[in-house]
Amino acid sequence: MTSTDPNPVVTVPPHASRIRTFHPRRGRMTGRQVDALDRLWSAYGLTVSEDPAAPVDLAALFGRRAPIVLEIGSGMGDATATMAADDPRRDYLAVEVHTPGIANLLGLVERLGLGNVRVARGDALDLVRALPDGSLDAVHVFFPDPWPKSRHHKRRIIQPAHVALLRSRLATGGTLHCATDWAEYAESMRETLTADPGLVDVHGGYASRPAHRPVTKFERRALTAGRPVFDLVHRRA
Ligand SMILES: C[S@@+](CC[C@H](N)C(=O)[O-])C[C@H]1O[C@@H](n2cnc3c(N)ncnc32)[C@H](O)[C@@H]1O
Repeated sequence: MTSTDPNPVVTVPPHASRIRTFHPRRGRMTGRQVDALDRLWSAYGLTVSEDPAAPVDLAALFGRRAPIVLEIGSGMGDATATMAADDPRRDYLAVEVHTPGIANLLGLVERLGLGNVRVARGDALDLVRALPDGSLDAVHVFFPDPWPKSRHHKRRIIQPAHVALLRSRLATGGTLHCATDWAEYAESMRETLTADPGLVDVHGGYASRPAHRPVTKFERRALTAGRPVFDLVHRRA
């Protein structure tokens, strides 16, 4: 590797840190969500292993070879389900820690008859470490927890080591799309993404809101409060 290598080797130790990027939260599930989880988990679910020696076989998981979009922190799953329904040529792998959100997405998968969605339960960073290099067509990080206090910035998912890890799993030309309504985080994301030597800024700064990104509760809340939303799209060089 030379200093000009656009895709430097990533050396993120698997368990470099147990600093989590999510809030531990309890959530009550509705009867419908409990039912969806019981019936649909075995067909569409994947438990994320913390063991980096347990790679995920994406072709086996989806039962075909198609471009794959990784949806990090899929929340209640509405955006994932809408995008997957609109984009049947690609497969969508959602990863979330919040069980009611996972169950909700499973219900949507059934109701909309989506064959191209799988739902992983666990830490997205562990999942990403278990994916082959270059295996993703796109990574979406929509409205990640902003961790606004300075002492919590280390919990943010968009930070240099995580971006290098995500970039290594993108295919050449694959995109990393982030969106946030937290202006200071947006600026930090922009700096971090621009500084990554293997990423190219597709729009030269903030992108216009892409039509294919559905409006979720977080975006509606931001717009109602008068906060702008920032989209950033970078692609692997
Ligand atoms: C603010 S919510 C946004 C949800 C969704 N993307 C949306 O726009 O509606 C952030 C979500 O990311 C999840 N999350 C944060 N860090 C995560 C991680 N390391 N692995 C999996 N999920 C994570 C949280 O549980 C939470 O549901």
